[in-house]
Amino acid sequence: MREFVMGLPKAELHVHVEGTIEPATAFALADRNGVTLPWPTPAALAGALEFDDLQSFLDVYYAVMAVLRTPADFTDVADAYLGRAAAQGVRHVELFFDPQAHVARGVPIGSVIDGLYAATSAARERHGVSAGLILCFMRDRPVADAAATLAAALPHVGKLVGVGLDSAEVGFPPGLFADVFGDARAAGLHVVAHAGEEGPPGYVWEAIRTLRVERVDHGLRSLEDDALVAHLVESRMPLTVCPFSTVRLRGCATLADHPLARMLRLGLTVSVNSDDPAYFGGYVGDNLDAVRETLALTDDELHTLAANSFRSSFLPEEEKREHLRALDTYVADATNVRFR
Ligand code: ADE
Ligand code: ZN
Repeated sequence: MREFVMGLPKAELHVHVEGTIEPATAFALADRNGVTLPWPTPAALAGALEFDDLQSFLDVYYAVMAVLRTPADFTDVADAYLGRAAAQGVRHVELFFDPQAHVARGVPIGSVIDGLYAATSAARERHGVSAGLILCFMRDRPVADAAATLAAALPHVGKLVGVGLDSAEVGFPPGLFADVFGDARAAGLHVVAHAGEEGPPGYVWEAIRTLRVERVDHGLRSLEDDALVAHLVESRMPLTVCPFSTVRLRGCATLADHPLARMLRLGLTVSVNSDDPAYFGGYVGDNLDAVRETLALTDDELHTLAANSFRSSFLPEEEKREHLRALDTYVADATNVRFR
C-alpha cells in the first residue's frame, strides 16, 4: 500500500522551502557561507526538533534558515526538495517562501526570488514536476514591512503565482493585512493564508471575507464553528492540511486523533501536505501513507485527497484536467493489478 500511496500522482500546495532544509544540508550550507549555527552538529540539530507549539518550532526554523545567503543556496535547497517530492509522486508544487526573514539578514529579495525561480522554472525538465512560488508575509512583523516587501517583489511578479500569510498566528489576525492583500490581488497574484492553525475560527472567517483567500492553510480550528464548516463545504474552499505538522506542533495529541477523516466525510475540500518536512518527520507521501494507515483511509478517500490537491491548485484548468485524468488512470490500473 505504501507503494500505491507514493506513486499516487499528487500536488503539494503547502510546503515552506525553508522548512525543507535537512540538518545535514543546514551544516553544509553553514560551512559554505561561514555561518555558525547554534548547534554543534547535524545530530544535535536533529535532536532539537521537539516542539511544544508553533512558536517553539519557528524559533528553530528561523535560526536554521540563516544559512541561506546566495541565490545558489536558494536554488540548491529548492531543487533538492523538488527532487524528493517527485520521488514521492508529486507532479505539481506551489512553494512558500519567507523573504522578510532573509531580507532582515541583508539578503536582497532579488537573490531570494531569482535563486528560487531558477529551481522552480527548471523543475519540469529536471524532475518532471511543475512548480510555482508563493511569497509569504510574516504576520508577526509590522504590516508596513509586508507592504514594503510586496513593493520590492512587484518587479518580480512574473516569477510568482501568489502571496500567503504565515509565522506566529495568535494575536495577528488576517484583517491586519487587508490592504497588502488587496494590492497583491490587484497585481494579479493568487492569495492564500495560514488560518485556524493555532488561531480561532474567527481568523478563518477573516481570511475569507477580508483577505478574500482562495485557499486556507491548515484551517483545522474551523471544525469548532459549524456555520464556518457549512460555508467551507458549500464554497468548496480548499484546506491544505498538514498531518505531521499538526501532531508535532501539538494541534492534536496523536495522529490517531487527527480530524482529517472527519473532514473528508464532512465534504471539506482537504488535501494532505508536508508543511516543513525536514522538521516534522516526512515529506508529503510519508504524510499521506501515515494517515492512510493510522486513520484507515480507503482507496477512494486517498483518490479524493489526491484529486483535491490538483483541484485546489492554481494550475490552468486544462492542466488540472490532465493531472486528474492521469490520477484516475493510475488508480484504475493499481486497483486492477491488486484484484487480478
Ligand atoms: N512557517 C513555516 N511553517 C509554518 C507553520 N506551520 N505555520 C506558520 N508559519 C509557518
Ligand atoms: Zn505552513
